[in-house]
Amino acid sequence: TRIFVPRDTTALSLGADQIAAGIQTEAIRRGLEIELVRNGSRGLFWLEPLIEVETSNGRIGFGPVTERDVVSLFDHDFQSGNTSHPLCVGEVEAIPYLKNQQRLTFARSGITDPVSLEDYCQYDGFRGLQNALHLSGQQIVDEVKTSGLRGRGGAAFPTGIKWQTVLDTPDPQKYIVCNADEGDSGTFADRLVMECDPFMLIEGMTIAGLAVGANQGYIYLRSEYPVAHDILNQALATAYENSYLGDNILGSGKAFHLEVRLGAGAYICGEETSLLESLEGKRGLVRAKPPLPAIVGLFGKPTVVNNVLSLAAIPYILDKGGQAYADFGVGRSRGTMPVQLAGNVKRGGLVELAFGMPLNQLMNEFGGGTASGRPLKAVQVGGPLGAYLPESQWDTLIDYEEFSSEQAVLGHGGVVMFDDTANMGEQARFAMEFCKFESCGKCTPCRIGSTRGVEVIDRIRASEAADNNWALLEDLCETMVDGSLCAMGSMTPIPVQSVMKFFPDELRHGRQE
Ligand code: NAI
Ligand code: SF4
Repeated sequence: TRIFVPRDTTALSLGADQIAAGIQTEAIRRGLEIELVRNGSRGLFWLEPLIEVETSNGRIGFGPVTERDVVSLFDHDFQSGNTSHPLCVGEVEAIPYLKNQQRLTFARSGITDPVSLEDYCQYDGFRGLQNALHLSGQQIVDEVKTSGLRGRGGAAFPTGIKWQTVLDTPDPQKYIVCNADEGDSGTFADRLVMECDPFMLIEGMTIAGLAVGANQGYIYLRSEYPVAHDILNQALATAYENSYLGDNILGSGKAFHLEVRLGAGAYICGEETSLLESLEGKRGLVRAKPPLPAIVGLFGKPTVVNNVLSLAAIPYILDKGGQAYADFGVGRSRGTMPVQLAGNVKRGGLVELAFGMPLNQLMNEFGGGTASGRPLKAVQVGGPLGAYLPESQWDTLIDYEEFSSEQAVLGHGGVVMFDDTANMGEQARFAMEFCKFESCGKCTPCRIGSTRGVEVIDRIRASEAADNNWALLEDLCETMVDGSLCAMGSMTPIPVQSVMKFFPDELRHGRQE
């Protein structure tokens, strides 16, 4: 019998290692032959650690399991696929939360052992790369353009056009840089890709290298992801050993090298130009654009900087064709979006869907409403620089243009829910305070503006000359939007302005009534 115990950070933090050890010990004690597989996560976090048993009727799940449940699981004969244990959730792929998703990027997540090359290849892995090896750089770029893929880091710039700029910039040395500094609140999709399906990222980056003519790539990984670091390094070593990376990829004579570099905990190093500074060994200060990194990037060379999710979408596109990817989605938002449900939510986790689903359907049908059972008050989409959406906006579709028409951002797809006990005045203050801590300090509207922002919000909340200070805050927000060098300063006002517009009383009167 094959028994699966996930090995991603979420499951580990909930005791997955101890459960795995317990299952081994108990199986030996009972003289049972089992094969323990450490798989990735399905992203159904409320069920983690989710233990699965392979049967002829698919995988049967049990969760959330604790170390103390192991003996009783065996008492119920769970290893034979017996479903009588109270923690049994039935066939995992029949759970509506999973069944109702459209998983392209996360198709393998939780199914395979993340560091098994055999598993990866068995589930369509490296087929995109095999195709790409027979195409010209321009043909690969064209396929990505056809897919309609837009940057999943948040800015939604068309990936194919970015690659075209790098392809068209002549230089013997170019780079592929993966932005794995996932810093947005409530987001974990990049982490899941790296911990559950690292070969997919390696494959995507290699294809990017072939497309634009870059032979070196770097994954800039946040230091807070030690499990991802370990798994990526194991997968990289295996890829090199089997000539999926190196000077002669699969005998093609084409070269691509890839390494992981660790960040040091600065939010701003997720901004592409300060990320490049940091990769070069300097302090993470934002660079002025232009020149674009696509033309003058890492060490002054043409560089593709893409988010993990953008690069992770590439193997599917090169395997099934750009059109197959573009067949999902609405309007100019093509393909799928891996949304991450977090905050005060009953069923938190990863939901990958074609663009176009209303936000409230996601929060209710998938998320199941708030964890507290209290009424939902607001939802922040797109990280700490995203707007707080009030009830009147919950029918907004998951679509880049729909979100911007509501003065909101979809960003990296983080959805953080708040119930009616949240104090929105405090949340507005938090936005300015976050910027104050994380500002790189290069430009005045952000460096000084955020500090003044905290002060003026404090005065408003203390009801000191509230009207004057309200006008001052409006001005300050405008100045930060118009005058900041990068998105850190120019987007911080978004959550503040959304509170001013939709929850003004909670800001004016300090504490909640
Ligand atoms: P941007 O709009 O300046 O740039 C988008 C991308 O397109 C950049 O990589 C830029 O270099 C590239 N680009 C633009 N024109 C190009 C051209 N003609 N050829 C080639 N490349 C071109 O946006 P920025 O400042 O890079 O990102 C802001 C976004 O980051 C926000 O929307 C926010 O949602 C997101 N964000 C994501 C976080 C995360 O943890 N994933 C954290 C914080 C913000
Ligand atoms: Fe640095 Fe803030 Fe200016 Fe961005 S907006 S360059 S983070 S000071």
